[in-house]
Amino acid sequence: MPAKWTPDSWRARTARQMPVYPDAAALAGVEKRLAGYPPLVFAGEARELKAQLAKAAEGKAVLLQGGDCAESFAEFSANNIRDTFKVILQMTVVLMYAGGLPVVKVGRMAGQFAKPRSSDVETVGDTTLPAYRGDIISGIEFTKEARTPDPERMIQVYSQSAATLNLLRAFARGGYADLHRVHGWTQGFIDRSPAGERFRELADRISDSLQFMSAVGVTAEAAPQIREASFFTSHEALLLPYEEALTRVDSTTGDWYDCSAHMVWIGDRTRQLDGAHVEFCRGIKNPIGLKCGPTSDPDELIRLIDALNPENESGRLTLIARMGDDKVAAKLPPLLRRVAREGRKVVWSCDPMHGNTIKSASGYKTRPFERILAELRGFFDACSAESVFAGGVHFEMTGQNVTECTGGAEAIQDAALGDRYHTHCDPRLNGAQALELAFLLAEKLRAQTSAQTRLRAVGEDD
Ligand code: PEP
Ligand code: CO
Repeated sequence: MPAKWTPDSWRARTARQMPVYPDAAALAGVEKRLAGYPPLVFAGEARELKAQLAKAAEGKAVLLQGGDCAESFAEFSANNIRDTFKVILQMTVVLMYAGGLPVVKVGRMAGQFAKPRSSDVETVGDTTLPAYRGDIISGIEFTKEARTPDPERMIQVYSQSAATLNLLRAFARGGYADLHRVHGWTQGFIDRSPAGERFRELADRISDSLQFMSAVGVTAEAAPQIREASFFTSHEALLLPYEEALTRVDSTTGDWYDCSAHMVWIGDRTRQLDGAHVEFCRGIKNPIGLKCGPTSDPDELIRLIDALNPENESGRLTLIARMGDDKVAAKLPPLLRRVAREGRKVVWSCDPMHGNTIKSASGYKTRPFERILAELRGFFDACSAESVFAGGVHFEMTGQNVTECTGGAEAIQDAALGDRYHTHCDPRLNGAQALELAFLLAEKLRAQTSAQTRLRAVGEDD
């Protein structure tokens, strides 16, 4: 029997990647205020996401999760939110059209503010200061004042997340996501890119199909999915005082939910079986993600799965592989095989970003588009070889025209990275690169769907 769980039982465990707040009383004060604020999401919404993810676990839907590496106070604007949402919608129709499966849409949005770092400190010249761990903890400027962890920032994150969610809900339900507007989702620089051109052709075909469907009587009144999108939010459950303060009992079921987002995940650096982050996540009923990296071990993974999903519920757990393009072929198959052999129900998703970060010659942290694509291909190949459904993808991306990842159809060069390098943490795909990737991914999904169909046909004959 596992020990009793409470929203604060993580406090008895080792919590890695946590800031040191100089003023404990100020921290306690903020936690108390946050605990009195309304939840940001409702338990019923998290259950709806779990039901959709259960379909992805069963090979009947695909998860698309994406957004900033780190949201920031500086980049908070309606246009940024709209543009990321818009690219996710564009990618969604590309994937749906190709794969013939529903797409579960989850933003790394409205709460993705805390970052794990490889070092606790940063040294410039003779000065050593705490590392920047995201706007929820400190400012990014390299001064002692900015870098001192300040709990008041959690309050600002709460209000920014509330406003972001409000706009996302309005976009998703208020007509913006209506498939009839598919042509309206393109935007300046994406429209002019090769992927933008392909998207326009696809949009024409979708408009024709909608017209045909309307002629046979399938209208938005009969099928509200045409007019509305369901869209969910997620972030890494890293800063546990914040997550604990937003964890509430759902009055309809008596279960605990972390109401800071629909889904939260455990990062590659904080997935210790006896650590605080796993302890916290095992007790909340939200869908949970677990990053699996090159150091993930099959035995340990099964123990983590059993800790996080003891009832083996479909949709509860998404395993997000982030191996690196050079390691995916060696490291992923043993995990896929073991999880399948033990009959554990999970969604397998691919994060082709975090294993492919390099320092460019010009000194910027970047990710070559070809390596991102190579890891995606390696992921699909490994899943196919192990007869495991490749159920999702996880991207760091933005709708903006940034120059953070090299390559893609527009061949962003190393020397151009400085032009529009705006990320607060890791390099993101820009809108055109993200859409291009969706088209390439669509081919893989189409192949997977036809293989499934062939298999089913063979099964029926038997
Ligand atoms: C992230 O998703 O931003 C992240 C830090 O990933 P990982 O834990 O896989 O390194
Ligand atoms: Co990142």
